[in-house]
Amino acid sequence: MVKNPLIRKFDRQARSYDRRRDGDSTRKYRQRIFSGAEGRVLEVAVGAGANFPFYDADIELTGIDFSPEMLKAARTAARDYAFDATFIEGDVERAVFEENSFDTIVSSLSFCAYQDPEKVLEQFQKWCRPEGRILMMEHGLSTNGMVAKIQQISDRLSLKLVGCHQDRHITEIVQQSDLELVEEERHLMGCLYLLWAKP
Ligand SMILES: C[S@@+](CC[C@H](N)C(=O)[O-])C[C@H]1O[C@@H](n2cnc3c(N)ncnc32)[C@H](O)[C@@H]1O
Repeated sequence: MVKNPLIRKFDRQARSYDRRRDGDSTRKYRQRIFSGAEGRVLEVAVGAGANFPFYDADIELTGIDFSPEMLKAARTAARDYAFDATFIEGDVERAVFEENSFDTIVSSLSFCAYQDPEKVLEQFQKWCRPEGRILMMEHGLSTNGMVAKIQQISDRLSLKLVGCHQDRHITEIVQQSDLELVEEERHLMGCLYLLWAKP
């Protein structure tokens, strides 16, 4: 599938994601999970860099995203932080990295957007060192029945408008992969998933 329309959707959202570094409803959850990133860190779908405030100064960040506007904001934002950062414009679903090349893989609010999320997890399994960690903060299907119903009904519209699914059960997707799920937390009516996993 040609992804240009999807990329343009995210390009248009870059400004609003850029503002998130100053804090939004996810700030405390980002801090809780992503302050655990260590060593060589791959952040997939890095967006405008909303997780940068929570990284230690001594990490080496590789950020990949297919939206040029998001990356532009991320590159500018990274100048305010002490860690080394390299950015790649590319599709996470087609990316090629050497096996075992990262100590930590970070993903936030990106599994709503992939066409084949299972395949991306297979890649995490390869890219992450066996003793490494995979840290995910994702949104998906709520634990609240009424909210879940609304998410299922609005899924197609959301995909069309902002390029993201509302009704994915992220924990189940991780459990069905080869990754080992270490810990799960659910917040914000169960819509926000914090997942600690390892290869
Ligand atoms: C909802 S935003 C989240 C951005 C950031 N991770 C955050 O937490 O603020 C989704 C991001 O995923 C990127 N994205 C979605 N699908 C992608 C893909 N297949 N390859 C690369 N980037 C992708 C979009 O360009 C966008 O920056």
